[in-house]
Amino acid sequence: MRAIDLIAKKRDRESLTTDEITWLVEHYTQEDVPDYQMSAFVMAVYLNGMTRKETADLTLAMARSGEQLDLSDIGDYWVDKHSSGGVGDKTTLIVLPLVASCGVPVAKMSGRGLGMSGGTIDKLESIPGYRVDLSADEFKQLARDNGIVLSGQSLALAPADGKIYALRDVTATVASKPLIASSIMSKKIAAGANGIVLDVKVGRGAFMSNLDDARELAQIMVDIGADAGRDVIAILSDMNQPLGSAIGNALEVKESVETLSGGGAADLREHCLMIAGFMLQLAGRGQRWQDESAVRALLEEKISDGSAVAKLRQMVVAQGGDGSVIDDVTQLPAAKHRHVVTAGQRGVIHRADAENFSRAAFELGAGREKKGDPINMAVGVECHVKVGDGVEVGAPLATVHYDNAEKLQACLHWLDTAFEIALQPCLPLPLFYEIIRSDR
Ligand code: URA
Repeated sequence: MRAIDLIAKKRDRESLTTDEITWLVEHYTQEDVPDYQMSAFVMAVYLNGMTRKETADLTLAMARSGEQLDLSDIGDYWVDKHSSGGVGDKTTLIVLPLVASCGVPVAKMSGRGLGMSGGTIDKLESIPGYRVDLSADEFKQLARDNGIVLSGQSLALAPADGKIYALRDVTATVASKPLIASSIMSKKIAAGANGIVLDVKVGRGAFMSNLDDARELAQIMVDIGADAGRDVIAILSDMNQPLGSAIGNALEVKESVETLSGGGAADLREHCLMIAGFMLQLAGRGQRWQDESAVRALLEEKISDGSAVAKLRQMVVAQGGDGSVIDDVTQLPAAKHRHVVTAGQRGVIHRADAENFSRAAFELGAGREKKGDPINMAVGVECHVKVGDGVEVGAPLATVHYDNAEKLQACLHWLDTAFEIALQPCLPLPLFYEIIRSDR
């Protein structure tokens, strides 16, 4: 086989066979196919798309390009989650301990953030000592001992995706649905999950700004999962306004601890109960936990009796972190100063723009522009209102946690235009739009 023929086939809108896709991915991983040919191939995919079968073949070829985690000796069904990324999205930090506290083991690898705010792994690093660089043996051992482990993405897993993603990043080919879907699902499949809950965000602060695109992406991922023999539930959730209140690494850990302890913002709590509920439903597979109200009651009990937050503490300590931070969140890194943004008029919140919040947090130093850039763990923004809330003049809309006055000004530039307040009534935004399930 020759890469040039496969590129030409995709350029001419023909479909590639399983063998052809497998060959291309294998030879690219082994560096027999050079970057410039793979760049041409992904551009052809970007322009001409892929069939369902091609997308599944690409996913499996990437999943098989490196190590594949086999957790079957320590549990017969593993459930995982993935979020397509949103502003203030600290769901993993809450949902993982919550699900594990119900006796369903979770072993998850998460990514760092590129762009406006940190990823799950960055957030966890605001806990002194927390290790995200576990070896495969340590990862499995903790999964076996504690039923919960949350580490950084191993480079040994789906290395073809890492290489192809790096090319996409610099060739304007990231925003292709089959490429995004295969990239995400290859890592989930290589990480050994049997059941996967996908939290696909829609709106101003998300990858997918409209429902049609998000639905199509979610359906592709659900189909890939089904074709690969996994159970998948995709939830299309709103990302027009921040999820919960906090945006920024240590602030998000604090809000996660509060939510696991029974407090936290109502939307965040509801969102997490929903995602955790679907994870339990998958783990129960037609036997246990099909009764939604029983699932919810169990999850609420684990929050109110302290088991969920205790599970987070156990995970933190097991991974070298300082558990006393979970008992007393004031020990987390804190910014030097606070600035409160207030309402200039009375009325109803019509917009609390997720994208503006994400840019505001970025200006403070909460995110990174390029791989390896340092992140300020302490800074960030808290949003105190949701669309549909009524406010009086002078009501607090947001609190900025900042270290540097110049950065505060840049942040305020975004917050000044983040809100729209009007006298007419406005309905709250829905938390979820649709649920798509694999029909295995
Ligand atoms: N996240 C991924 O892992 N891959 C993509 O292509 C996009 C988002």
